[in-house]
Amino acid sequence: MIILDGKKISSQIKEEIYSSVEKIKISGGKQPHLAAVIVGSDGASETYVAHKVKACEQVGFKSTVVRVNENADQKVLLEKIDEINDNNDIDGLIVQLPLPGHISEDTVIERIKVEKDVDGFHPINVGRLLIGQPGYVSATPYGIIELIKHYEIETSGKHCVILGRSNIVGKPMAVLMSRKGYPGDSTVTLCHSRTKNLEDWCRQADILIVAMGKAEFVTAGMVKEGAVVIDVGITRAPSEKTRSGWKLLGDVKYDEVAPKTSYITPVPGGVGPMTIVSLLNNTLKAAKKEIY
Ligand code: GUN
Repeated sequence: MIILDGKKISSQIKEEIYSSVEKIKISGGKQPHLAAVIVGSDGASETYVAHKVKACEQVGFKSTVVRVNENADQKVLLEKIDEINDNNDIDGLIVQLPLPGHISEDTVIERIKVEKDVDGFHPINVGRLLIGQPGYVSATPYGIIELIKHYEIETSGKHCVILGRSNIVGKPMAVLMSRKGYPGDSTVTLCHSRTKNLEDWCRQADILIVAMGKAEFVTAGMVKEGAVVIDVGITRAPSEKTRSGWKLLGDVKYDEVAPKTSYITPVPGGVGPMTIVSLLNNTLKAAKKEIY
């Protein structure tokens, strides 16, 4: 069993990004710049954005956090997005999700300039992914693909089972794993809350990608001997064993599943760090105008 070390690989990729930024600066170019918009003061969103800001610092990017009041009208948020869209110093723009209930996530995402949509959530970027045209790929699926590439995991002709059909992870992951080429060429089964005989599908997976947000849902009995298991879940659970009083759990019962697998991602230290580094990669592409 090999642990897919997202922490290590993401550090290596960060060093490569840092070198690219140095080269840009030496040749007189502009420092890449990411803007993150937070609406309200959701604890998890604050933590995620803080991690993104820190990652920007590590690779030499500029970052700006724009805060919008929890109760602000949608119009106020859209105006902020327009301002950032028009600011030529800013290359990438993300609006941290989820948004308060009175704001339409679809309207907000569509307002982001496609060229700055480094989260890859805009319908144009999602559509481009679907038909195999260059565009921004959302960070978690992009990070998983980078991990698979790095460890040279065979995907052609494999049965890839994905648990969870979110727009951010499950659906783009299904597109990426079934596309022509490497990584890809897999036969994909996309499972969700209404799937019948879920455990049977899981047991048929050569590659099992779990993104449903249910702590320790996948048990040893659901995994085929020698399968590749990728765990996207991250749930904070109370713990008496840690000083902080909580620990992070994946969607996979790691201790009992890991011995059966050929490759597995740990939580934390697997998919999470790869996601952040993929956002940096997208921001670098935006700064270099590589896609649009
Ligand atoms: N909320 C949870 N994941 C994400 C993400 O990747 N990007 C944004 N903007 N919000 C999120």
